[in-house]
Amino acid sequence: MLVLSGDKVEGAHADGTDWTIPSSVSCTQCHNAESGFALGLELAQLNGPLEHGCDVEAADQYGNQMEMLEALGVIEPLDFPTDSMPTMVDPWDEEAPLEDRARAYLHSNCGSCHTAPENVCSGDLRWSADLAQMGVCNVEPKIKLEEWAPGTMLLAPGQPERSAILFHMNAEQETGAMPMPPLGRDHVDRKGTMLIRDWIASLEGCE
Ligand code: HEC
Ligand code: HEC
Repeated sequence: MLVLSGDKVEGAHADGTDWTIPSSVSCTQCHNAESGFALGLELAQLNGPLEHGCDVEAADQYGNQMEMLEALGVIEPLDFPTDSMPTMVDPWDEEAPLEDRARAYLHSNCGSCHTAPENVCSGDLRWSADLAQMGVCNVEPKIKLEEWAPGTMLLAPGQPERSAILFHMNAEQETGAMPMPPLGRDHVDRKGTMLIRDWIASLEGCE
């Protein structure tokens, strides 16, 4: 069923929280030219180990998703070996480096809107930007949070409690500070905020 004006499906998540269906006008807030329209189907997201529930014979022969798609003829033959191409880790893979996990999380959840430091939504939160290019480290936020958290930077290395990125992720609708992401979210992602908190706490500077 096409739900043009958006809707909420109560208790649809495994943890009992609601599922928000965005309205058709809001699609382009995330899927747009600047973010490259497709958000999940990116090389770095697909180039990784395969954990699938699909019943495709060839799938079991390949550890890597790109190699499987190549073998199935879904994509053109690859020009380079997959281990020389970009890859993004699973944010919940505790074996992966903390920084890579945090950056993969920010890319998928925030990077569709936060694509450039000079934009109204500050910072380049995409995975491809290094810490300096992100334009957040020890940079003052445009939205002043003095009322709640004085002296806050977008990201204060080693100080999650002074970091606006975490503050907005933790914000509840009723506090007045804008919760992030602003769409499709009706509760704080505790696992995600913990990951970003740990990463910010681990940073010693802006290099
Ligand atoms: C808040 C941001 C946001 C909004 C609003 C949004 N999407 Fe998405 N969408 C995403 C993200 C992020 C992914 C990638 C998810 C993944 O990789 O698991 C995605 C994935 C998709 C995909 C799979 C292809 C791809 O790009 O990865 C389709 C199709 C899609 N969305 C359609 C829609 C439609 C239609 C709407 C409006 C009704 C919409 N989306 C609104 C963020 C959004
Ligand atoms: C659908 C688009 C969208 C997504 C997705 C999104 N944001 Fe935002 N964000 C915005 C916009 C728009 C603003 C500016 C709001 C304003 O100026 O009132 C903003 C503002 C912010 C600010 C304040 C910037 C400043 O200079 O004060 C922070 C920090 C932030 N977002 C973090 C995040 C994080 C972290 C995520 C992912 C967990 C995220 N955002 C996801 C659109 C988005």
